[in-house]
Amino acid sequence: EGDPREHARALIDEKTRRVPDFPEKGIIFQDLSPVLADGDGLASVVDGLIYGLGDVDLVGGIDARGFLIGGAVALRLGVGVLAIRKAGKLPPPTHRREYELEYGTASLELPADGMDLVGKRVLVVDDVLATGGTAIAAVDLLTDVGAEVVAVATIMELDGLGGHERVAKHLGGDIPVTCLWVG
Ligand code: PRP
Repeated sequence: EGDPREHARALIDEKTRRVPDFPEKGIIFQDLSPVLADGDGLASVVDGLIYGLGDVDLVGGIDARGFLIGGAVALRLGVGVLAIRKAGKLPPPTHRREYELEYGTASLELPADGMDLVGKRVLVVDDVLATGGTAIAAVDLLTDVGAEVVAVATIMELDGLGGHERVAKHLGGDIPVTCLWVG
């Protein structure tokens, strides 16, 4: 069968729309829209993200682009999906965690009732890992509700921002942070 990540990486190379000076000068925006809009692209990204993982009970997708990946990965694994939402979208009661943005802070939330997440093994997915602040807030939220994060997986990692190391250190050693494509 081979390693599905190779095919995913080739499609990410080929199809990502790279836009210079967006959202500000000097930044190259990596738009994964064409990758995920392609049937083979979506399937290979999903297969690549779950490659080599252990048991997972639930997939957590981070608002907003992580939702696209989260639903697809969950269906592939035969488990449910949980939306880890930006603040103000969910009705109360919620758990909330703040994280740093370049200017100011943002927050993620999870429902604080209606679901028993205690002991659930959760795979956290998102499109892009940059500074890692968003992923760390998601991990902390899941820990707050008693879940166990078993891996953080993103399609792309932006190199040179220290995000991978920051998230790996926060998870403490044995829990993998996997990114399909680094650049
Ligand atoms: C982007 C991306 C990640 C996050 C990564 O989301 O989808 O969630 O930033 O950045 P970090 O590692 O520095 O925290 P964004 O906040 O732009 O939201 P969106 O998915 O709603 O566009």
